[in-house]
Amino acid sequence: MKYLTDKLTSFRKNGIHALTGNPVPHERAMKNVILKFIPVLFLFLASMNTSTAQASDTSGGFLSENLLEVTLTIALVVCVLALMVLIVVLNVLKTFLSKQKEEAAAKAGIPVQAGQESFWVRFYKNFNDAVPIEEERDVLTDHEYDGIRELDNNLPPWWKYMFYLTIVFSVVYMVYYHVMDGPSSAEKYEMEMTAAALQIENYKASLAISLDETNVEVSEDAAVLDQGKEIFVSQCAACHAADGGGGVGPNLADAYWIHGGDIKSLFAVIKNGVPEKGMISWKALLAPEQIQAVSSYILTLQGTTPQAPKEPQGDLVETPVN
Ligand code: HEC
Repeated sequence: MKYLTDKLTSFRKNGIHALTGNPVPHERAMKNVILKFIPVLFLFLASMNTSTAQASDTSGGFLSENLLEVTLTIALVVCVLALMVLIVVLNVLKTFLSKQKEEAAAKAGIPVQAGQESFWVRFYKNFNDAVPIEEERDVLTDHEYDGIRELDNNLPPWWKYMFYLTIVFSVVYMVYYHVMDGPSSAEKYEMEMTAAALQIENYKASLAISLDETNVEVSEDAAVLDQGKEIFVSQCAACHAADGGGGVGPNLADAYWIHGGDIKSLFAVIKNGVPEKGMISWKALLAPEQIQAVSSYILTLQGTTPQAPKEPQGDLVETPVN
């Protein structure tokens, strides 16, 4: 009986840990595959190097740089995929082997628990490869420090896979930066600084676009003046008359102005209004460009003769309006 349970324990142990314990044939085969895989990867990347180098000879600069990035990304994706396939194959082999062992055990008359574990349980076990607590005695070393004892567990496969990934990454990294002449840190810094300078320039340009009474200029663009006329007729005519002759509000076609007759004064008065005199603030209703348009339009009324001109108000502004 004792013999049987021993046998069973050892079988279970090897069944689960076949891969990572002492080299088992199929593990060695897998290692070989991985070892062969790395030089192939190297060759692949090296050949890519020469082909892109040739491309840059003919097409030069920008395009080949992009091409390089794309090919490298593809290479990386291929590597990761290959690695994933390897892992899957490894796991399939593992399951296959333990199945075989199970069958062999069944033939030999050793009772095997038909415990079908779920995929996730198996996945978890495969990725951790930790010795179950009941069997920890088997891997207990004689190291003991203040009552803390040391287990001789296998390296967790998830950790090993990450290690393999770093190897792949290091190869890609080395080839890209040291063989293919990828940008150095200093070059990257320069590139980022140029990009930032461009952004600052764009920002400044966008600031300049924001119109107000300090930077507005008369527009002579016909479309803008048309827009201004439209706004004037629909929004302002009630108080200033459609031809600017005035009514509740002052005559805007004469040369007399209460608040100044240049474009900047007009812009300011329209934007902020003179609420106590009945001229509302238009800044919530009109965009700066619209205020500029209507101001420019008002200035075109200078020298025209309205149907019923209101008497002059304010000061004579003799200087030409713009
Ligand atoms: C509800 C009546 C009313 C409406 C609508 C109105 N205004 Fe006026 N506006 C006035 C009054 C009143 C004044 C005189 C303010 C003062 O005496 O300081 C004035 C003054 C002005 C002035 C300054 C004139 C000067 O002599 O310095 C400008 C420019 C002007 N309005 C443009 C506009 C424009 C453009 C619109 C339409 C977007 C508009 N107004 C709509 C009543 C109106």
